[in-house]
Order: sequence, then C-alpha cells, then structure tokens
Amino acid sequence: MENTEAAVLPPQVSSVIFSEEQIQEAVKRIGAQISRDYAGQKILLVTVLKGAFVFMADLARAIEGHVEIDFMAVSSYGDGAKSSGVVRIIKDLNASVEGRHVIIVEDILDSGLTLTYLLKNLKSRNPLSIEVATLLFKEGKQQTNVNCKYIGLTCPDEFVVGYGLDHNESFRNLPFIGVLDPSVYE
Ligand code: IMP
Ligand code: MG
Repeated sequence: MENTEAAVLPPQVSSVIFSEEQIQEAVKRIGAQISRDYAGQKILLVTVLKGAFVFMADLARAIEGHVEIDFMAVSSYGDGAKSSGVVRIIKDLNASVEGRHVIIVEDILDSGLTLTYLLKNLKSRNPLSIEVATLLFKEGKQQTNVNCKYIGLTCPDEFVVGYGLDHNESFRNLPFIGVLDPSVYE
C-alpha cells in the first residue's frame, strides 16, 4: 500500500491544502452532478489550458454519458501575478460550439476576469447552453459576478500550485494542491 500521507513537498511549497483524496472526492461529486444534470445529452468540455488539463482529465472520467473535449488557451495581459481582464486567445477551439451543451472547465476562479471574457466570447458563438466548472474558487476575490454552477473546493486567498496549477510553469505535476511560499514571488 502506498503511504498517501507522506506527500513530498518541494522546498518552495509550505503546506498541502488539498490532498489527492480531497481532490478526487470533489471531482467525483462534480462528475456525478454533471452526469445527472445532462443525462441523455451530449456535453462538450471546453478546457482552459494549461492549468485545467489535469482537472479535465479526471473530470471527464467522472462523467457518465457522451462527453467530448476541446481546448482553448488564453493569456491575460498583465504582470503575471494578477489578471488584467484583457484576455488574448492563444489557441482557439478546434470545432464550433454552435448548438452544443458547453461546460467551461477551469482550474481556479480568482478575480473572475478571465472567465467573464471567455463566457462572453463563447456565448457569442451560439451554444445551446453554457456553464462553468471550476476546481477551485478563491473566496472573496471575485471582481465580477461569474455564474459558476460547479465548484470543487473553496480555497483561501493564497497562491496555490499543483494538480495542473503552476508558478512560472513549475509544480503542475504535484498530485496535491499546496500553498506556494510567498518568498518565491514577493
Ligand atoms: P482570474 O482571471 O483572476 O480569475 O485568473 C484566473 C487564472 O489565473 C487561473 O485560471 C489561473 O491560471 C491563474 N491563477 C489565479 N490564481 C492562481 C493561483 O493561486 N495559483 C495558480 N494560478 C492562479
Ligand atoms: Mg487558468
């Protein structure tokens, strides 16, 4: 048996806030909710790269029924630490979302500016329906009123890494979510 308690923390990560088990529980719960809400319907999961790639892989397998996936990559202009709300599409979807039931899959909802842009952009392409699933929701940080139907875990206002989330492209491969030591970015 693996000892799941003994998470190996890189020196820059001060603590684990969500273990692999807690994350899997949240993913299974959202997967079951989506399976019920969309029973008998085809879903298109629009994954926002890069951070949501791990969440999407687990979420897709937690949903019963017909699921298709597509990817989008966006970048917010700004200083890197904060979202500016001015979003640039780096990679667009391969296929049309017109007439599809779309779920945007995000890693973390912080200011909400990125999602507000994405929702507006994708709604203009005439999907049949559109909802948002985010693994993490940073409490009290939202600058806009984003209607996010599926939320995995509520997260304190700290910079977190792991399970797809990065700091300067590092730490995406950690199986848990941890708090980055502020000395790394301050
Ligand atoms: P928003 O536009 O402020 O909601 O920013 C959302 C994006 O910023 C997320 O999709 C992440 O890529 C990134 N982000 C925000 N907070 C964190 C964090 O704590 N760790 C890693 N990335 C984050
Ligand atoms: Mg992101």
